[in-house]
Amino acid sequence: MSDQAGSAGATRHEPEYVLGTGRDELERLGHQHRLWSDAAHEAWLRAGIGAGARVLDAGCGPGYAAFDLAQLVTGSGSVVGVDESAGFVGYLNEQASRRGLGNLRGIAGDAQRLGAALAQGGQAEPFDAVWTRWVLCFVPDPEAVVAGMGACLRAGGRLVVHDYFNYRSMAMAPRTRSWERVVEATMASWRSRGGDPDVMGRVPALCHKHGLRVRHMRVIQRMARWGEPMWHWPDQWWRTFAPKLVAMGFLAQAECDELIGDLDEARRTPGSFLVPPPVYEMIAEKP
Ligand SMILES: C[S@@+](CC[C@H](N)C(=O)[O-])C[C@H]1O[C@@H](n2cnc3c(N)ncnc32)[C@H](O)[C@@H]1O
Repeated sequence: MSDQAGSAGATRHEPEYVLGTGRDELERLGHQHRLWSDAAHEAWLRAGIGAGARVLDAGCGPGYAAFDLAQLVTGSGSVVGVDESAGFVGYLNEQASRRGLGNLRGIAGDAQRLGAALAQGGQAEPFDAVWTRWVLCFVPDPEAVVAGMGACLRAGGRLVVHDYFNYRSMAMAPRTRSWERVVEATMASWRSRGGDPDVMGRVPALCHKHGLRVRHMRVIQRMARWGEPMWHWPDQWWRTFAPKLVAMGFLAQAECDELIGDLDEARRTPGSFLVPPPVYEMIAEKP
């Protein structure tokens, strides 16, 4: 298979999502969803998503959350995923068909022009709920995404968001120079593409501005010792992304090597632990 995941049969070019849309990122997203699916399910239930609900997954990626949502809403509900990566959307549609999820479909489109993407995909009905996770931090215009998500909700519908704030607080203990350096390089790389690793600091105000009422917020802070599944989230993240930072010119090869060496050393050092970036949860309602 080529560097790009799936085959959507679409003609539009692959966008410049800073993490890439290749097979390595497709697999990383699957692992990441597995580790964060408990928090996602909690949020969905808190927002009242259940049988019969019509749900939009904005920036759905290859669809790992959407597969779960499609089962949660049962055959009487439906799930639409929108993502700018035609490769990811192709994977979602292929998997939906293989898994017999007739109530799930993906549409390739820009979340910053959600109304246009949904219209092009033939989706006219408003949604009972919109879910978006780790998308607002990557788009140049999060306000357009928030406005679009609000616009496609029915009155009384809920917006459910998991995204980053205070990204810099992710840490390795004991601290290492290489970790501090790669976190800064990561934030710089996202910002260079118009993203914002602290976007959740702005999202509640954007919701307010676009007529949504914030009903709930919390922060989900995890930590992991070697041997615990959560260890592999930051560990795999750096092993996948640090070489990309080198290729993009945000990190020197020597700094990348130092980081990988420190990660290997941390595994062998009793008492080491990793602190992933905190995930902020927000549920807002359309009056
Ligand atoms: C970190 S992944 C998260 C995927 C999925 N939401 C999840 O939680 O597994 C970010 C996703 O945002 C998508 N994305 C980035 N910019 C986008 C845009 N302007 N419109 C639609 N999707 C976008 C990427 O293609 C990628 O699939």
